[in-house]
Amino acid sequence: MLLNINNKINITLCGMMGSGKSSIGRILANKLNYNFIDVDKIIEKEAKKTIKKIFQEDGEVYFRNLEEKITIKTLENKEAVVSLGGGAIVNKNIRNFVEMNSYNIYLKVDVDTLTKRLENSRARPLIYKKDLKTELINLIDKRKKFYQKADLIIQNEKNIIETTENIIKKIVN
Ligand code: S3P
Repeated sequence: MLLNINNKINITLCGMMGSGKSSIGRILANKLNYNFIDVDKIIEKEAKKTIKKIFQEDGEVYFRNLEEKITIKTLENKEAVVSLGGGAIVNKNIRNFVEMNSYNIYLKVDVDTLTKRLENSRARPLIYKKDLKTELINLIDKRKKFYQKADLIIQNEKNIIETTENIIKKIVN
């Protein structure tokens, strides 16, 4: 399959928690015969604890440093679809690396849909205790200028299979 991704060696998926990065990443990788890597999972493996526990025990600054180190190392791979953590793109070093070596796709999801999807999520440390919708609006506000720099922006409101097909239509020659 010949891909039209500007000679970039990986594909990254960015976007908010609940935007579908991991589910779509897995399907996309399968279709393209790429490896699938979920950065959050590698962080948990390396730290030997959940992200929630890292936030609770070591704090967000510690998590963001670990996220930087592991994301950049992950991007040294080739032919991988990489699901980035929702806040990764705010980090300048990660952003530079993503711009340099990966075709970055922003999965855009409306805040009401995100709120519904995340209502029962206890695993996400940034949102579990506050007014969810307001918290999501604040985070999106801070992050959208970075998300919008992606090479491709795809709306992912409904069906993940359809969304993956839309991505493939755009990147396969
Ligand atoms: C975060 C998103 C999470 C995880 C951490 C912080 C964020 O990843 O990295 O909880 O800042 O938005 P997902 O987007 O994969 O849930």
